[in-house]
This record gives sequence, C-alpha cells and structure tokens, in this order.
Amino acid sequence: MRAEDFILKNYNSSIENGSVKWSSPSNIALIKYWGKRENQIPENPSISFTLSNCKTITEVTYTKKETSDFSFEVHFEGKKNEAFEPKIRTFFERVEDYVPFLRDYHFKIDTANTFPHSSGIASSASGMSALALCLMSIEQELGADDTLDYFNKKASFLARLGSGSACRSIEGELVVWGQNESTESSDLYGIKFDGDLHPNFKNYQDTILLVDKGEKQVSSTVGHKLMFGHPFATQRFAQAHDNLAKLKTVLESGDLKAFVKIVESEALTLHAMMMTSIPYFILMKPNTLQIINKIWEFRVANNSNICFTLDAGANVHVLYPENEKDSILEFIKNELAAYCQNGHFITDHVGNGAELIKK
Ligand code: DP6
Repeated sequence: MRAEDFILKNYNSSIENGSVKWSSPSNIALIKYWGKRENQIPENPSISFTLSNCKTITEVTYTKKETSDFSFEVHFEGKKNEAFEPKIRTFFERVEDYVPFLRDYHFKIDTANTFPHSSGIASSASGMSALALCLMSIEQELGADDTLDYFNKKASFLARLGSGSACRSIEGELVVWGQNESTESSDLYGIKFDGDLHPNFKNYQDTILLVDKGEKQVSSTVGHKLMFGHPFATQRFAQAHDNLAKLKTVLESGDLKAFVKIVESEALTLHAMMMTSIPYFILMKPNTLQIINKIWEFRVANNSNICFTLDAGANVHVLYPENEKDSILEFIKNELAAYCQNGHFITDHVGNGAELIKK
C-alpha cells in the first residue's frame, strides 16, 4: 500500500460528537530501529515483540466546532497536561492529510499508562499507537468502511508518524517494520511477522529492570539524527538486514542459543552506535553493566537461555522462554533487583496487540 491510499476522502461531517477508547501496548525491539529519513522512514528494518502489561489507555472525545484550527486538550492520569501538547500538535500536523476531520472537531484526549510515568520506559510507542487507533475509530464513526486489514495498516501508518516504533504496537506477537528481503514488509507501517513462530517463542517473557527512572540525556529523536554521516552507518544498516534474515530462521527453528546471540548483539550495537556518533553519548549506567554480567554468569552456570536487550536508555529488558520463568524470576528477585532503582522491575510477556475498549 502507498501513502496516498491512506487519505480519507469522504466522511460524514454532520456527526456532532462521540468518544472512542483504546488500549495499546509497548513493544521491545529485537532488531533495532536506529536512524531515519524524512517522514519517519526507517533507515533499516526492525522487528519487535509486542508486550502485554505495559500499555497506554486513551479515550478521545470529539465535539464538532466551527473554526478550522487544531483544537485539543490533553489530560494525563486525570489531570490536564500541557507538556504533551507540542508532541500532539506535531503529530496532528503530520497526519492531517490522512485524517482531514482533525480540523472539524475539538478533541479531549484522556490518557494513562499502566506503568509508572517516571519509570524511564518509553511511552511513545504505546501512547502514539493508542492515539492513532482512536483516530481510526473516529474515522469509522464518521462513516469510513475500512476492512480490518486496512484499519490496522492505517493505524500503524499514523502511529509511525507520531513515533517510529509505535507502528509496531498495533498487532502481536511479532511485528516487522522497514522494507527487507526476508519478510513481508513496508517502510510505511508494521506488518505481523509472516513466519511460523516456533513454540519456544510463544509467550516469551520480558522482565524490565528499572535501572534509571530519570529523563534520558539524549532523546531517541536526536539519536536517530546522529546516524546521518555516522562513520559506521552503512555497515550498521546492512547488518540489520542480515540479522533480520538470520532471526527469521531462528524464530521458525526455535534455536534459542542463536536467538540470544542475535538479540544481545543488536542491543550492544545500538549502544555502540551512540558511543561512536559525534557527539557521542552513553545511556547505559554502571548498574546496566552489572546486570549484563550477572545475566551472562547465570546463563553459563544454569545452561539457561536468559538474555538481555536494551532500549535507548539504561533499563534492561530480560528476555526468557516461559518454561524458565520460575527460576529466572527467583534470580531476578534475589540478584538483579538490587541493581534497580528502589528495587523496581516490571514483569511482562509477549502480547497480541491493541484492544478496543469503547466505540
Ligand atoms: C532504540 O520510535 O522512540 O527503541 O521515531 O523519533 O519517535 P522516533 O523514535 P523512537 O525510537 C526507538 C528506538 C529504539 C529501537 C526500537 O524500538 O526499534
């Protein structure tokens, strides 16, 4: 599908008001998106597990208005929040050609996360996908007769314009974004992984260790820009294609040892890109490294398939198969929680994507 196919042409603008509500999860990338071109087009393909417990719940109430400007208010966890407004305005500007009703209504956006706001967990993926889904439901309320496939693709397309990784949160269990030779894919939206997922990866577990709940020193948006003219950019983008091809085979064969190698290498490469850009920066903290070393020791000592991945931050996502859940949770409680801020961690697992709450 092309971008033009997502332009809403006809809608019933006589509808006075209504409200819709969605819950949308976060996701954790196995092959990392790092580097983008204009219009939120990724420089390389990525793939992520959709999560289950870490999600944003957003209700959008729309009321017909006369003026032709954008008009909206954001309430976060029940309180009016002006800090989110610039992000939402930018999002509206990027998507208005595709959902032209944005100028016909006043929008009240009520949003909340299931995870603590100051946990250092990226809420842009769950937040932007939830908002995009609400706009899609409004599009339907205004008379569009979208098929489920079109609905999901356009929701992902809109979410991408809010935040790249958000386009991977609409469906589960694994979503690919970015054109590549190994899987069905697009640069414009995420697509459910088309391979046959081996049972070893069903209900994969992700425990998020909250090493640093503070604001990051460098945002992802700035980080992506630093891939322009980065000395290793070409090799990195090629490597992501290779790793995705390898990972596809592994996801189908169930080879957990190979999975661990690809996923950890991707996480460390992401941070290596940050450390070798100009300006360079480090988002890992001493406790991030302590945890990584502990995970490696545990893996060898217990012949385990535990591994880690990292986002653009200091927190560690501990990934493991469901059949190792009991022993690994014990290990996390007894040995890793000590490296987390206030001992905090969040247990999550792979999920099936966003859910409509009210229409
Ligand atoms: C490191 O999606 O947050 O988490 O498109 O600028 O909003 P923007 O960036 P964002 O970048 C996330 C990068 C990452 C890797 C990933 O999720 O693939």
